[in-house]
Amino acid sequence: MDRQAYVENIVDHFEHPRNKGRMDDADVQLGGGNPGCGDLITIYAKIGADDRVEDLSFEGAGCTISQAGGSIVTELAKGMTLDEVKDLGIPAITEEMGEEIVKSRVRCATLALGTLQAALDQFRRDRDRREAGLPPLEVKPFEV
Ligand code: FES
Repeated sequence: MDRQAYVENIVDHFEHPRNKGRMDDADVQLGGGNPGCGDLITIYAKIGADDRVEDLSFEGAGCTISQAGGSIVTELAKGMTLDEVKDLGIPAITEEMGEEIVKSRVRCATLALGTLQAALDQFRRDRDRREAGLPPLEVKPFEV
């Protein structure tokens, strides 16, 4: 894709977001934010017995890139295992948004992915603690 196609892809995800909305029966939810601008995103996830992401959604308010990121990342990660999501990095986002935009707006571009990965970490941590008979730890919002 050339720059124009990347921009169009981002605008399309922003204007017609996939997987946007609250999920009341999520196994985990986590808020993320960019303290530099105040933009926010919340990720909701349902995890299957085989450690696969069965469903994902997001809510948020903020710049076009960060909110398009919520749509892109939830679409990308649905059906992946927890480990596969953990391995997603900047290249996965670059494929959707283009190198130039990701480099110049890296916090915006990675807010959703970072929040998703932190949410799944929290899911695993809570599950491990539950299995060990320990109470859950305090939830910390993710920050880029
Ligand atoms: Fe705030 Fe993009 S300007 S996340």
